[in-house]
Amino acid sequence: MADLQRHFDRTIEQDRRVEPRDWMPDGYRATMVRQIAQHAHSEIIGMQPEGEWITRAPTLRRKAILLAKVQDEAGHGLYLYSAAETLGADRSELTAMLIEGRQKYSSIFNYPTLGYADVGVIGWLVDGAAICNQVPLCRSSYGPYARAMIRICKEESFHQRQGYELLLTMMKGTPAQRDMVQDAVNRWWWPSLMMFGPPDDASPNTARSMAWKIKRHTNDELRQRFVDMTVPQAEVLGVTLPDPELRWNPERGHHDFGPVDWSELKRVISGDGPCNARRVAVRRSAHEDGAWVREAAVAHARKTARRTA
Ligand code: 3HC
Repeated sequence: MADLQRHFDRTIEQDRRVEPRDWMPDGYRATMVRQIAQHAHSEIIGMQPEGEWITRAPTLRRKAILLAKVQDEAGHGLYLYSAAETLGADRSELTAMLIEGRQKYSSIFNYPTLGYADVGVIGWLVDGAAICNQVPLCRSSYGPYARAMIRICKEESFHQRQGYELLLTMMKGTPAQRDMVQDAVNRWWWPSLMMFGPPDDASPNTARSMAWKIKRHTNDELRQRFVDMTVPQAEVLGVTLPDPELRWNPERGHHDFGPVDWSELKRVISGDGPCNARRVAVRRSAHEDGAWVREAAVAHARKTARRTA
């Protein structure tokens, strides 16, 4: 066992990938299943907020773009559930854990999409935050997760750009359209900062995840990177980010920003966000309504296996 642990430690030290057949500490496996499963849950639940606008998109082009984006999120969830299965996790058990509240999904998807501008702001801010968080994960120590991230990040870039382009168009529109965009930015800015997780000094998992090179940067480092990336984009767009303390700090070489309301993140994570109950109820009914498809697929696979045996 000592040799196996030494081999694992050397793999991590030398920045090589841990693969499904490699020995790994139980804690590493459990951490990877937890992070990958919750990432997958986030992708699947994340289909709902924007999915509500597919039938209401203002043009065929916008409808096609939004359809493609929501389909991408489903695909991201499937890649990630497959990556979790390489660690011995069972997909139906993971779905049960999500529906029964025994596993989490990203807090950001518990906020309502009140207007069409929300679709653009989710693309710009939420997918922008996801890119900040997910690009480093392309170098995560667990092979299947890192490889899934490479494709997911390419699609996230399309998601972020389509959202920003949508907002640029609306900002060239009527005063009412510009007000819609500013209202959406006001509602989504702080929840987007919360996506990166609690502050480092209140993050029970970061130290170990960094030591195992699962995470390559801490929550606060990635949050700062997102703020620094987004401020100039907001200037080009002509919107105001809702933080009176936001300003460039030449000594730090970063933007200072105001305090995040961590009690809100805690509340939303514990199930008391604006849309938690609805998001899980929709996921539950989709799973129950889809039972016949799963049963038919299993029956067909059995029949085919008997025929070819
Ligand atoms: N929402 C829900 N739960 C959160 C959270 C958030 N925004 N931030 C942290 N948490 C949870 C963690 O899961 C952990 O709980 P657990 O131990 O029961 O899992 C607890 O709060 C403490 O947080 P830590 O920082 O210690 O936990 P992690 O080290 O796991 O860091 C994370 C949290 C930064 C979200 C990390 O898990 C991560 O990078 N995950 C991969 C990326 C991801 O899941 N992104 C979610 C959004 S997916 C998305 O954006 C899709 C795109 O298409 C829009």
